[in-house]
Amino acid sequence: MKPIVYITRKLPEEAVAPLRDQFEVRMWESESEAVPRSVLLEEVADADALWTVVTDAVDRDLLTAAPKLKIVANMAVGYNNIDTVAAKERDIVVTNTPGVLTETTADLTFALLLATARRLGEAEQDLREGKWTSWTPMGYTGMDVGGATLGIIGMGRIGEAVARRARGFDMRVLYHNRSRKKEAEVQFGFEYAELDKLLQEADFVITLAPFTPETAGLIGARELALMKKTAVFINSSRGGIVDETALYEALKNGTIWAAGLDVFETEPVPVDHPLLSLPNVTALPHIGSASVKTRLAMMNLNVQAILDVFEGREPQNRVV
Ligand code: GLV
Repeated sequence: MKPIVYITRKLPEEAVAPLRDQFEVRMWESESEAVPRSVLLEEVADADALWTVVTDAVDRDLLTAAPKLKIVANMAVGYNNIDTVAAKERDIVVTNTPGVLTETTADLTFALLLATARRLGEAEQDLREGKWTSWTPMGYTGMDVGGATLGIIGMGRIGEAVARRARGFDMRVLYHNRSRKKEAEVQFGFEYAELDKLLQEADFVITLAPFTPETAGLIGARELALMKKTAVFINSSRGGIVDETALYEALKNGTIWAAGLDVFETEPVPVDHPLLSLPNVTALPHIGSASVKTRLAMMNLNVQAILDVFEGREPQNRVV
């Protein structure tokens, strides 16, 4: 009998084909809905390998329901959806997909920054709804990106890739990170700043830190109040890094000017979420890594990780 790999989303056949020789591949077939928790709990009962995505909660209960499990291969760079302590206790390998999505996610982050600064979502929606009735001198006026100051919180691979893009827009780049990036400071002129200074001086604030107990709620009412009234806040890492209630208040009251969000505390975000009622929010459905090439590369890394574990090799992107 072949070991069983359970995949929580429908994947293109070309991506899973390399697993079929050695594994019985079981996959959630719906493209429009995520696998319900109850189904997942049943499916993992027989699974030797589990392929997950960012919104699948791999908690202690799920791991307990999966007695044979050897690996959780998470198709994402972030792995805050996985209880790594519980996995480690059981010697279950956990892998992620870093590296291949850096440039693609940086592209999306910068696109979201531009879209929010120049109100693209709002303008396009009006046009499609027939509300473009005349060219108005102050209509859809936004914030200039070129020459502005960018503050990046979380200067990992993606943060650095965003900062490199900002150089092309003649931006001053401030960053805040656990460790200094001396090489990038010298090579590109990025400036390290304490968090409060970054918040006070940046025209655009981007959070790109991983979601951990230390970064949960990092941007709250106090931090938003420190930002400029004209500031644009961008989040393409994890929703939980921001206190969404405080962000809603800040956007509604003019404490900051606008926000571009690719991530939310609860995903998919409910359409009646207060943030979505605000015209100064540009919202996307967590598509940072969504280019064809990158998504296929992430799938390839996941396939490789599963093959590595069952063929006795150390997987390249092991996090536990
Ligand atoms: C996406 O959010 C990822 O972590 O790859």
